[in-house]
Amino acid sequence: MGKKVDIDTAIDLIRDGDGIAVSGFHLATVARELYLALAERYRATGHPAGLTLMQCAGNLGIQDMTVEGLFSRYITGHYAGNKEMIELVNENKIKSYNFPQGVIAHMYRAAAAGKIGEITRIGLNTFCDPRQQGGKMNEVTTEDLVELVEIHNQEYLLYKVPKLDIALIRGTTSDELGNITIEEESAPVDALDVAMAVKSMGGKVIVQVKNYVSSKSMDRSKVLIPGSIVDAVVVSETPFENHMQTPAFFYNPVISGHLRLNNVGFGVIPLNERKIIARRTAMELSPHSVVNLGIGIPEGVAAVAAEEGIGDQLVLTIESGLIGGIPVGGESFGSAYNAWAALQMTSQFDYYNGGNLNITSLGFAEIDPMGNVNVSRFGAKIAGAGGFIDISQSTKKIVFSGTMTAGGLKVQVRDGKLSILQEGKKKKFLPSIDQITFSADFSKHIGQTVLFVTERCVFQVTGQGLMLTEIAPGIDVEKDILPCMDFRPAISPDLKQMDPRIFQDQLMGLGQIIGIK
Ligand SMILES: CC(C)(COP(=O)(O)OP(=O)(O)OC[C@H]1O[C@@H](n2cnc3c(N)ncnc32)[C@H](O)[C@@H]1OP(=O)(O)O)[C@@H](O)C(=O)NCCC(=O)NCCS
Repeated sequence: MGKKVDIDTAIDLIRDGDGIAVSGFHLATVARELYLALAERYRATGHPAGLTLMQCAGNLGIQDMTVEGLFSRYITGHYAGNKEMIELVNENKIKSYNFPQGVIAHMYRAAAAGKIGEITRIGLNTFCDPRQQGGKMNEVTTEDLVELVEIHNQEYLLYKVPKLDIALIRGTTSDELGNITIEEESAPVDALDVAMAVKSMGGKVIVQVKNYVSSKSMDRSKVLIPGSIVDAVVVSETPFENHMQTPAFFYNPVISGHLRLNNVGFGVIPLNERKIIARRTAMELSPHSVVNLGIGIPEGVAAVAAEEGIGDQLVLTIESGLIGGIPVGGESFGSAYNAWAALQMTSQFDYYNGGNLNITSLGFAEIDPMGNVNVSRFGAKIAGAGGFIDISQSTKKIVFSGTMTAGGLKVQVRDGKLSILQEGKKKKFLPSIDQITFSADFSKHIGQTVLFVTERCVFQVTGQGLMLTEIAPGIDVEKDILPCMDFRPAISPDLKQMDPRIFQDQLMGLGQIIGIK
């Protein structure tokens, strides 16, 4: 008797009101065919309905099963630009919680070991703290899933795991016993932890695979999920649509680490605002830095380092679990070429939480006078925190890298001087912000070094809040900086010019600047 079932039989296992946990990062380990079948069943019969959906990283498949009524509650690390879901949340048609990505991964691990939830300092003093919103994203979300607890006179947050009945996960190959390997995935992400959490709560684990083989043919060293915790295996019938490795690749052996490519790198960024910011941020690196680069402008830091010939001095890490190599951006976000290792997401966040990153560069959307930052929800836009809170509360040195204004900013660099041709429509430096995703208070408490790098100036966070410390050549504080801020920052008595090498077309000699060559 094998574990293989048809997709209808698998979906039959899901009942009204169940808690569903899904694995995934972008498309890695995303069981898209199962998601589509679940949504189709609901549309056809109205059941199963009122489910709780729990998910860790940005998952591109969720939009395939975003149907009003199918889910009544959505717990996530990131909303992955899923417009329909964001609308349901904004219109109070679904309850929703946004928790840090690493915390959710660790909640699964806690549940897998029969614990009530994850106890951690991650999220303290942010919107996940129950003294703020407790991670609740709208008015219909009222139940507190996060509690403030004190252990040995230290504050912690307890994130309680909801009841989970069904795991929907993906592997590459299953044998008849349900042993699962993931040889064609970019990383294991959270598949094992999701499965173990659900199993320990008495639920059922359903796995989508590409191949189904004899139990006598499995190589034990490749098995990620043992058959003893798998209840049903569904072999994908539409792998080219619904079992893609990334949106760009059906299967690329370099991305799954079986082969390596020579001469992979980054494109050279033209000398624009993004490159200026990336260059100034890169000046904060030190030799042999282990780094995490956030979404958006920070991704350019690795490109600048590579262009300057010191790319091999950085060890890049990605929240999906990858260490080393060259992150692949765009459609294959979350994967890497030539990575050294692919850790489980729980271990990657242990590594981050343990303070092992030398530096991180993260994006920003809104900043207040004290240096609190919002990236998770601004206006009607819900992005979600992703790994931002886990990383920004665990790393000693943080550079927030972004443009001074958003939406249409145009700049020009000529003769080593910066001028603003068109200001962005949205101000980012505001008297108060919608959500605190980075807490200046918490940061002060743990003694972090925090910089804000924009194309035209640099701020440092001091005990009194933001202080302007550097301005770009060609920029005037009164004309180009203060009018773009809805509060007045302190101005350093020792205000400096940003390094002129940043504003030159030629290489800036980054290696020498940071002490490598
Ligand atoms: C905050 C974030 C959106 C900034 O991205 P970026 O590319 O560096 O910066 P940009 O200023 O170009 O902003 C990107 C978009 O957000 C919009 N935006 C940024 N700040 C905004 C603000 N204060 N108000 C309204 N819109 C804003 C921009 O207009 C732009 O929108 P567009 O693409 O429609 O033009 C990005 O870093 C992010 O999504 N972070 C959240 C999750 C995260 O950091 N995860 C990584 C953890 S390791």
